[in-house]
Amino acid sequence: MKIALGLGCDRGTPAATLAQAVDEALAQAGATLADVVAVASIDLKVDEAGMRELAAQHRWRVCYYSAAQLAAVPVPNPSEVVRQYTGTPSVSEAAALLAAGQGGAPAPVAALRVEKHKLRGPDGKNATVSIAEIPETTVEKPVFDSNFGDLPSGPIFGDAEQQALQRIMAARRDMRHFTPGAALDPAVLAALLQAAHQGPSVGLMQPWRLIHVRDDALRVQIAQLVDRERQATAQALEQAEGRGQPFLALKVEGIREAAALLAVVQAPDDGTLFGRRTLPREMALLSTGCAMQNLWLAARAHNLGLGWVSLIEPEPLAALLHLPEGAQPLGLLCIGPVPAFYAAPMLAQVSWRTPRPLHELCFDNRWGQELPIGG
Ligand SMILES: Cc1cc2nc3c(=O)[nH]c(=O)nc-3n(C[C@H](O)[C@H](O)[C@H](O)COP(=O)(O)O)c2cc1C
Repeated sequence: MKIALGLGCDRGTPAATLAQAVDEALAQAGATLADVVAVASIDLKVDEAGMRELAAQHRWRVCYYSAAQLAAVPVPNPSEVVRQYTGTPSVSEAAALLAAGQGGAPAPVAALRVEKHKLRGPDGKNATVSIAEIPETTVEKPVFDSNFGDLPSGPIFGDAEQQALQRIMAARRDMRHFTPGAALDPAVLAALLQAAHQGPSVGLMQPWRLIHVRDDALRVQIAQLVDRERQATAQALEQAEGRGQPFLALKVEGIREAAALLAVVQAPDDGTLFGRRTLPREMALLSTGCAMQNLWLAARAHNLGLGWVSLIEPEPLAALLHLPEGAQPLGLLCIGPVPAFYAAPMLAQVSWRTPRPLHELCFDNRWGQELPIGG
């Protein structure tokens, strides 16, 4: 059995009380700690010391949802008192169901193995634990193989490698649905960073920087910035195209759920001139794009999803990340195991936009003249 834990507690609840509540709830469900693959709570708890201590003991990555996300989940035991304090009628039940869900949608109420197990500790602090079962199909184990090998120089690739690379490129997707609470093997993350490092850059400028957001509280602050920009984009789309509501219905980021979060930053310009006399800003930005595409393909080769999130106001993000003068955030990369990869670009799947065919993008000798492709 694979399960997701939803945790709630009074401010200042010790780790021991939470641990005991978890043990009791697991016993009720007939489960053990080894069955726990996802742990979730509300973002108000991101700095809750006892919860952080317990998560550190078990090496859990807690997925923190906002009150609005939790309030949208149907639960068996909503509470008016909880709503007054947190803004959502349920924390633990809703968090467990969201963490056990698929594709960003919560698991059905029937998935709850333990609805709301409450424990009052010796100091009067309350801990609440809910347990939801995760359907086996949504627990995908990524294949970790971080050994890229030492490549000798020279033309060493044959059909097999060419086909593998084509398959990886064809199967790469921008992913927004992640397996909540899943972790990313540090060795695999290192391999992805290595892939970025192998990217081309104008004049060997290497103008990109990546910041691994490992602090849960910082991740929540970033998620809130993205929530804000999502609303602003919806308003702009409503005014420009009358598509505000359809946009809000799309899932456009997985900041809270993804196993790892990297911020892509354009470093302050170092004045590289080689290849940049005429289009300096563009060449530097493109070089960052090339490095990130390497990382994106490497992630797919490791069966990990990656979603590039650009719905962000740069200034407040720069402030959160303590960027120096002249540095600019360019986006956020959500990386981690996913329940399943989209078979086609999600925006095409939901008919938001139809991709242009290749022959419309390539020309022969001059703009607009059709290129015979493959001929
Ligand atoms: C620079 C860049 C920024 C992007 N920002 C977002 C974003 O904020 N939210 C989102 O849902 N998708 C974002 N995308 C993903 C694109 O929508 C996606 O790449 C495109 O629809 C094609 O789908 P595919 O990557 O699965 O082939 C971004 C992609 C790029 C390259």
